Amino acid sequence: MKAIFSLLTLVLIALPPVAVLLSGKAQATADMPAQAATCLACHGAQTRAASGAPQLAGQQAAYLQKQLQQFQNGQRGADANDVKGQQMAAMAASLSADDISLLARYFASQQADEQISPADAALLDQGRRHYIGSCGACHGAKAEGNVAFNAPALSMLSADYITLQLQQFKAGLRGKDKADKPGRQMALFSRNLSEQDMRAVAAYIGAGMP
Ligand code: HEC
Ligand code: HEC
Repeated sequence: MKAIFSLLTLVLIALPPVAVLLSGKAQATADMPAQAATCLACHGAQTRAASGAPQLAGQQAAYLQKQLQQFQNGQRGADANDVKGQQMAAMAASLSADDISLLARYFASQQADEQISPADAALLDQGRRHYIGSCGACHGAKAEGNVAFNAPALSMLSADYITLQLQQFKAGLRGKDKADKPGRQMALFSRNLSEQDMRAVAAYIGAGMP
């Protein structure tokens, strides 16, 4: 480690612009916990669409930690009809409490990458009105989330993932357990949503909230 740093210092003196790039990269790799490599097999930018895994970068650490604990204790991903949740529950099973807190803090500290899926203007308009009327009070005007309400950020999530989660809350696959107050709150708000409402609001968020 020391050798790498002194090498970087040498390069830094010799070649300032390249060295800035190099040290930035070395820093990112050094900070990444070894366990995170497994996660990126599904949660990475290139793998998310195929795996159905949401983007974790930029999400609140407390929210990520809670979800991982819930995948372990069966409050999420235990139902036979919840195929994606079951997949993730299998991944969470072997994590220690320390791993969970390390990974939650790591992903929360990363910058989310933008993923914009364009959508039809009429659908976006419907989604916008719905978002402002029924979601923004908890999830924030820009879907940036609100820690005080335990409401996660939605801005970095894909339309497909959001639609699926709204369906899961509505079907009682998420937010059913008595001890899960934030989940129950969200489940309550999903109940009045029609399939069309879900698609519209998810398309609006997935399109970057234009
Ligand atoms: C085999 C693919 C796969 C791997 C590997 C994987 N995940 Fe997941 N993960 C998923 C899927 C799919 C979901 C969405 C589950 C759902 O739809 O409810 C998910 C959901 C999550 C969520 C919930 C996020 C949210 O916004 O609610 C967290 C947190 C999470 N994963 C963390 C991790 C961590 C940490 C690792 C590495 C230890 C990991 N995952 C490895 C597939 C994977
Ligand atoms: C009363 C506050 C409140 C309102 C209103 C609300 N939510 Fe939520 N939402 C929450 C909370 C709290 C959670 C976290 C649940 C958990 O911890 O599992 C959540 C979770 C979610 C998730 C899961 C995110 C993820 O990463 O898996 C989605 C998607 C979501 N909300 C969408 C919406 C949409 C769309 C609306 C409007 C139709 C809405 N919410 C309205 C409080 C709210």
